[in-house]
Amino acid sequence: MINAQQSWSPETYLRHGVFVSLLGEPVVQILAPKAGERILDLGCGEGILTDKIVASGADVLGMDNSADQIEGAQHRGLKVVCMDALEMKFDNEFDAVFSNAALHWMSPLSKVFENVYRALKPGGRFVAEMGGAGNIQTIRMALYNALMRRGIDPAQYDPWSYLGDSSAKMMLQRAGFETRSVTLIRRPTDLPGDIGPWLETFAGSFMQAVPENEHAQMIDEVRDALQPHLFDPYNKWVADYVRLRFKVVKPV
Ligand code: BEZ
Repeated sequence: MINAQQSWSPETYLRHGVFVSLLGEPVVQILAPKAGERILDLGCGEGILTDKIVASGADVLGMDNSADQIEGAQHRGLKVVCMDALEMKFDNEFDAVFSNAALHWMSPLSKVFENVYRALKPGGRFVAEMGGAGNIQTIRMALYNALMRRGIDPAQYDPWSYLGDSSAKMMLQRAGFETRSVTLIRRPTDLPGDIGPWLETFAGSFMQAVPENEHAQMIDEVRDALQPHLFDPYNKWVADYVRLRFKVVKPV
């Protein structure tokens, strides 16, 4: 992923991507935040779930490497920092680290897991959900085909790292964690509207491989390729999401 670069606009995210945060609410329940706990929300984006964790009375720091998303989270009055997870230097500071739908944008994940491990106090927990092996595979392949037809190597523009449950477990254990649960869950997901805005919101890295005046044509091509697979009889787009959900603990 030499050229993979995704940019985020809080307005676009709120219009077309807010379902990603809403579907992450069960992960907040697994986190079970408590009043007074110090919690890091890694890849907090615009802060929709960060807000829910704050409601528990925990002292929450949101972190994201998108300055635009962090600005959106600041407008909600959240405590946030703009930083790359690969650069974070927190040491024995947090009772828990939480992350929803963010880790698959980060690479190498082994380094991120090491940094999370260091950030936690002994006994601290890391509760996360991310895209897992096979996530949005049909969409990803249609994007690959659209770039290959143009003679472009798609792997260079692919921003996503998806792990299976066994490799995630191994990587987390190698970082020092004790694993409590690591599960791969198929979650076909109704999109709120057409696939076009989804592609514009989340596949920016692939789009930037082609000149701007070809973007609309590329979206049409990808939509046509996906229609027989992801457009259901009730006229809804259903994306082939797969979640990797885990809870791991830093030993005391
Ligand atoms: C996800 O949450 O799995 C995801 C969302 C947008 C693009 C890619 C993956």
